Order: sequence, then structure tokens, then C-alpha cells
Amino acid sequence: MKVKASAPAKVILFGEHAVVYGQPAIAVAIDKRATVTLTSKNNNTEKKEIVLKALDLKLEATINLHSGKNVILANHHDKIVEATAKIIEVMKERHDADWPESMEITIVSQIPRGAGLGSSAAISVASTAALATAAGIQLSKDEISSIAFEAERIHHGTPSGIDNTISTFGGAVYFKRPEVKNFSIPSFSLIIGDTKKERETKKVVLGVKERKERLPHIYNPLLDVFGNLVDEALQVLTTEPLELETLGHLFNVNQGLLNAIGVSSLELEQLIWASRNAGALGAKLTGAGAGGSMIALIETKKEQNVSEAIKNAGGEPLTVSIDTKGVITEEME
Ligand code: MEV
Repeated sequence: MKVKASAPAKVILFGEHAVVYGQPAIAVAIDKRATVTLTSKNNNTEKKEIVLKALDLKLEATINLHSGKNVILANHHDKIVEATAKIIEVMKERHDADWPESMEITIVSQIPRGAGLGSSAAISVASTAALATAAGIQLSKDEISSIAFEAERIHHGTPSGIDNTISTFGGAVYFKRPEVKNFSIPSFSLIIGDTKKERETKKVVLGVKERKERLPHIYNPLLDVFGNLVDEALQVLTTEPLELETLGHLFNVNQGLLNAIGVSSLELEQLIWASRNAGALGAKLTGAGAGGSMIALIETKKEQNVSEAIKNAGGEPLTVSIDTKGVITEEME
């Protein structure tokens, strides 16, 4: 048996952080993928196990498939191992999953980690899809996303669920728990600038929580403004002809709000301002912030200029297009 599943990265266009507190957010899937390949492994022993390898992360681990809830982890304590063990546990609980033989899982990802592009969610979504197929279980996209969400909790503590949702469904999504609305997005050009400064989403989200608890009268109204901004952005994105300048301005307003709640950084501001000065219509951080990536909304003719400006300011520019497929599973043998 050989199964391959892949799932896309994402960028949050509007509303990160506030989405953790029930406000809406808008995200799109992009054409960078995490791929999980699962092959059967006849090790001729009574012990059914999964050998997990992510070579570019120098990760190798073993997960015992018999032990259900008490999955044994060995070799390495990367969060990916714990998250995969969680996926197995939840599939057993919810779908009575069983795997006929030992397997090897290999993870290969084009998505930089800790860069705000949803790398962990893409790996969790692809792993869920591959493991379900290997167990002969048909899962709906909602079910895949819901299992991947449990793995996201291992990675991020209190995730909103937007990352696993967009990675599963692809395209563009307006997300306001529990409502998830896929909508068709008009064509526009985005450049991502990676600060190459990795950070942990969990810590940044926790920082916002602590400041919000200390200053509720400041943070709560700010979070409401995030929500208003996202609804305004949805209006702009679904009205023809697309008002690019207004959209760009909303990027900038969103960045101001993210700055206000303390999740920007010098590196991000440098890339954001370099893009704006090079002619971007708007620029903001994307994902958790405090490092990671920013996005710039541009007219196509400005692509070269903005890319160079990001590079000169110390970032890594990445031109991406929107992925409409979401998770894909192929059974190969
Ligand atoms: C992370 O991609 C986005 C955050 O809003 C956290 C979350 O939604 O879980 C910062």
C-alpha cells in the first residue's frame, strides 16, 4: 500500500488574533504544499507501529499503533510526533480506525516553519487524509479539518481553527466560529515577505491573551474593530469591480491594529514599510506575527520593485498564487 496526501499553506488576509476571540477572519490557501507519503512496512513482528520521518527537520520517531490513547513516542519529541499520535488517537475514537500493518510516514514540506504560513496545519491535514485512506475510512472535508484541529491544539494551544479549515478546503474562506464560508475571490497579486525569524504561534497568542486580561477596556473594543474591518474587507472582496486601493488601505488599517495589540516586530515593520515605499497598495503581517511573514498587496507592474525592496530590507520575497484544491489524497498502490 502506498498513499500520498498533500495540503496547502495559507495566508491570513485579515483578522488574525482577533479570530481566536470569536471575531471573523479571511484567509486564502496558497500554492505551497506539505506532502505526506505513507507506505506499508512489513516488519514481520507482532508490534504494529508507525515510523515517522521528516528528513528536512531531522525528525524520526516511532508511534505504537496498538496502544490507542497511550501512544508511545520515541526518538524525538518534536510537536509533529505528538500531533500525529493525536490524529491516530482521535481516528480510533471517532471512526474506530485500524491499520492492517506497520507503516512508514514521510513528510516533505515546501512551507517554511514558524513563518505564519500554516505549516503545521498543512502537515496535520495531509497526515489525517493519508491515515484515513490507509485505514480504509472515507472522511468528509469537515471531518478531516476537525481531526486536524485536534492536532493543531497540540501545536498551538488554543487555535481558532482557521488554519486547518483553509488548508483542508483551499480557496478563500470567511471564518467566524462556527461559521465557515468559502467564497470566490477576485484575482489580485500578493507578495509574501518572510523575515526568516521563526517564532512560536503559541507564545505570541499567549502574549495577546495576557495583555488582553490586563487591559480589557482597551483590547475588547480593539477586537471589535478587527471584526468590523474583516466584514468591510469581505464586502470589498465580493463587490465588482474590485477596489484595490480600498483593499490596500484595509491591509494598512489591519496592520495598525496588529501593531496596537503588540504582535508586530522591527523586522516585520522594515519589510512592511519597504513594500509600501516601493509602491505596494497596502502591507501587513500575516499569521501570528512577532517575526514570520508579511504580505503586500500590489499591482502586477510593481511586483519586481516590491520584491527587490523586501530583499533589500533583509526579507525573502515569495510570489504565490491561490490554491483552490485544498487537501488532495492519492492511493498509489
Ligand atoms: C495563526 O495562523 C493565526 C492566529 O490568529 C492564531 C489562530 O487563529 O489560531 C494568530
